[in-house]
Amino acid sequence: MDTAEAINTRRAIKKFDSTYKMTKQQVDSLMELAIRSPTSYNQQNWRFITVTDQSVKEQISKAARDQAQPSDGSLVIILCGNMNAWQQDPFRYWKNSTLEKQEHVKKAMHTKYAESPQNQRDEAIRSCGFAGQTIMLSARHMGLDSCPMVGFEYDDLAKIINLPDDHLIVMMIVVGKASEPAGPRGGQLPLDQVVFENKF
Ligand SMILES: Cc1cc2nc3c(=O)[nH]c(=O)nc-3n(C[C@H](O)[C@H](O)[C@H](O)COP(=O)(O)O)c2cc1C
Repeated sequence: MDTAEAINTRRAIKKFDSTYKMTKQQVDSLMELAIRSPTSYNQQNWRFITVTDQSVKEQISKAARDQAQPSDGSLVIILCGNMNAWQQDPFRYWKNSTLEKQEHVKKAMHTKYAESPQNQRDEAIRSCGFAGQTIMLSARHMGLDSCPMVGFEYDDLAKIINLPDDHLIVMMIVVGKASEPAGPRGGQLPLDQVVFENKF
């Protein structure tokens, strides 16, 4: 499947085939693609909780206001941002580069994040946004379907996954096989309402 086809056929699936189970190899392949997503300074500040355990998926469905997707889908991925990634052994993000480059990036990240919880949070959300789309398109490439979700009780989900204090849940994505296609698209806005040439 080429990229355009993956984009055009990705839909937010409401009904998943609960009998379909991804193999561990499929989950690993999907996550190997997910970690190719770009992050600022290559800080790789996403953290992914992959859930295949049925009892945990059911708890997640409950936290998601009884939406069925987490329970029926094969895999639930909770995308979290680590807001302290910028200062946690930062040389590892540029391990293939020179010491000079590593020191430069460490200093630049300190300047950007040390005094700014907002920048830390924004970066977590940006990075998980990219990873989310990578996951959904990669799932299509693998012949699978997905549903991005934020309709959940944050504190309940945080408790289920033991979310550390300095991490943020950005979204979850359910992956599996659709048992019903998505309904008709809501309707995209025309380009001239969302694209502006050179400036607003
Ligand atoms: C951040 C985000 C949160 C969403 N949360 C939910 C959700 O909790 N439950 C659900 O069924 N769909 C959810 N959706 C799916 C959207 O309703 C869907 O993407 C949108 O209607 C466009 O449809 P499409 O993805 O099929 O093109 C969410 C989508 C996004 C991007």
